[in-house]
Amino acid sequence: MKVTIVGAGNVGATCADVISYRGIASEVVLVDIKEGFAEGKAMDIMQCATTTVFNTQLSGTTGDYSKTAGSDVVVITSGIPRKPGMTREELIGINAGIVKSVADNVLTHSPNAIIVVVSNPMDTMTYLTLKATGLPKNRVIGMGGALDSSRFKYFLSKALDKPANDVQGMVIGGHGDTTMIPLTRLASYNGAPVSNFLSQEVLDKVAADTMVGGATLTGLLGTSAWYAPGASVAYLVDSILNNQKRMIPCSVLLEGEYGQEDICMGVPCIIGKNGIEQIVDVQLNDAEKAAFAKSADAVRAMNADLKS
Ligand code: NAI
Repeated sequence: MKVTIVGAGNVGATCADVISYRGIASEVVLVDIKEGFAEGKAMDIMQCATTTVFNTQLSGTTGDYSKTAGSDVVVITSGIPRKPGMTREELIGINAGIVKSVADNVLTHSPNAIIVVVSNPMDTMTYLTLKATGLPKNRVIGMGGALDSSRFKYFLSKALDKPANDVQGMVIGGHGDTTMIPLTRLASYNGAPVSNFLSQEVLDKVAADTMVGGATLTGLLGTSAWYAPGASVAYLVDSILNNQKRMIPCSVLLEGEYGQEDICMGVPCIIGKNGIEQIVDVQLNDAEKAAFAKSADAVRAMNADLKS
């Protein structure tokens, strides 16, 4: 099984590292535009093969897409972060150009690949990829909910003082500080609602911490995070390549689901060898429905920047 990761920066390289040492794919190709960068990252990770013990073959290329031929999954992490003085529209314009040309290049050599979009603003970039490529919706998956949900479970586990792996919870909606919706009502600890253990006040704090989870790390690190984002992409790729059928919140084209049309947003999906195999219809209460509609308005405004 072959995976291409475009963008060998922090998130892309971490994803390649996790895919390798977990044996998720037999081959990983890293692509970057910075001369020698992807080659260097691939070589560095390959030199872990005998210590972390894996057989995945990694290689890197500076923009030679013929090396990516026959990929089963392509992950797009290429893009630039917002720089001081840059408007959101400018950022969207630049990243849209990058994502579009990358998608064209990878599909030329891997026409059957499933594309995982990571570059921000992720919901908008997923929508753009879908529209620009004309691929069926099951083959274009935006990664954001896997990361936001793992952060949600981290904060829940801290509040509960219990291991994160015993905690269940998910975050839906847009992948942004103000648009994501941590579903505290449905979160559980080993099957029991977390509200049995935590007050509403604590749950509200957990939700608020989750929503600014990325920004908190950017403040601490001076740049956006990469370990959890890279691992979240690898978790999603594993579910596709190895047909795990995990239920993962992903950004996907909605066509009436959750009351929305013509927009990509995070909802729980069953992820398997065909990509998005099912959108799971979780029954939301009125407050959650209202939050989802508000989140959709914000994502739509971002998509409008794309078109202008
Ligand atoms: P980074 O700056 O470390 O890496 C980006 C890489 O993309 C750079 O090495 C750059 O040279 C490369 N690149 C730029 N244009 C390219 C092109 N046309 N072709 C090939 N490579 C190209 O950034 P980082 O931290 O890895 O983040 C990558 C993206 O992922 C950003 O847009 C970031 O906002 C986003 N992100 C999304 C998350 C999510 O949950 N969806 C989580 C974390 C980051």
